[in-house]
Amino acid sequence: MNDNYIIQSVRLDNFRCHKKYILNCKNETTLILGENGCGKTSVLEAIYVALRGKSFRAPDREILKREEDYYRIELVRDDGEKIIVVFDGGKKTFLIKDKKTTRLPRKEKYPVILFLPEDLHLIASSPTSKREYFDRILAQINERYGNSLSKYNKALKQRNELLKQDSVTEEELFSWNILLSKYGVEIRAMRRWLVNEINGELTETYRSIADNEDIVRLEYKSYTANSSESEYMRLLGLDFERDKMTGHTNFGIHKDNYDFIFNNSPAETSASRGETRSLILALKFIEARELKKILGKKPVVLLDDVFSELDSNRQKCLVKNFKENQVILTSVDGVSI
Ligand SMILES: Nc1ncnc2c1ncn2[C@@H]1O[C@H](COP(=O)(O)OP(=O)(O)OP(=O)(O)O)[C@@H](O)[C@H]1O
Ligand SMILES: [Mg+2]
Repeated sequence: MNDNYIIQSVRLDNFRCHKKYILNCKNETTLILGENGCGKTSVLEAIYVALRGKSFRAPDREILKREEDYYRIELVRDDGEKIIVVFDGGKKTFLIKDKKTTRLPRKEKYPVILFLPEDLHLIASSPTSKREYFDRILAQINERYGNSLSKYNKALKQRNELLKQDSVTEEELFSWNILLSKYGVEIRAMRRWLVNEINGELTETYRSIADNEDIVRLEYKSYTANSSESEYMRLLGLDFERDKMTGHTNFGIHKDNYDFIFNNSPAETSASRGETRSLILALKFIEARELKKILGKKPVVLLDDVFSELDSNRQKCLVKNFKENQVILTSVDGVSI
């Protein structure tokens, strides 16, 4: 069975600044052209909501057009199916193949490569942004990762709330420590796996874009090192006094970081602007291949304002690497693809 499809059209009602909007995707590459603030990113956001279940930048109540009481997305696919999403100000409903659900079912999720302008600054961005970036990739690859991460984050929030109370005891934290170490070890293993996968292809892919002999590598630094689940528990416990003093959990995979290494030096301080761009492009190409390999579907590529930021050589590489994918891109200026 071929699970791939092409988006044929997208219709929006009351989605951000769009009262009504229709995008027809006649061929496999679609350009959304318009001035700053006219709602280009919002169209990509709507497609993302229909394919992934929720936005990459905001909760639904912020997306709903001001003064309106519902938003609606209707995405028509070339296999004849439609995805309809309605948010009524309180809850969201997905309608696919006559089935109504409040969450997008796993089998209806479609892989997306999202390329945002801020991704061009990923290498020098904060550990939080880097974690979010790779978390988003992992959650697409493995549904379980997303679930474990959200359970971890819920437990972390509860534990931190307890830590803000003066009367908190070690015993009260115990059940949260169990959850944090269980999910923490699992999340760390998946992060490590992804970094290994990426490193298996990074230098070669980078060289195909940059046409040089540089060696590039992604390094995953877990704050929790190689601790087993029980060690993780013990280390969490050891931090009790410090955690109480600071009012939050100091130990855990929520402190992990990623570093890009460029010829054995941190890319952040040694790679040029162009080299940094080639590195990010390489990462996107690898991400697309991983998603295809693991999920068996060719991801839809959403490029927000990045195409015109690249020089002609990198633009050509991008077109070549995504020639099998449906690409939807936005730009303020005309671009030739
Ligand atoms: N809930 C909302 N209701 C109405 N308008 C909104 C809402 N949320 C955002 N907007 C407005 O929608 C407009 C479009 O935003 P969007 O980010 O999609 O524009 P854009 O075309 O991508 O702009 P840029 O080229 O600057 O990136 C903005 O002017 C924003 O203020
Ligand atoms: Mg935008």
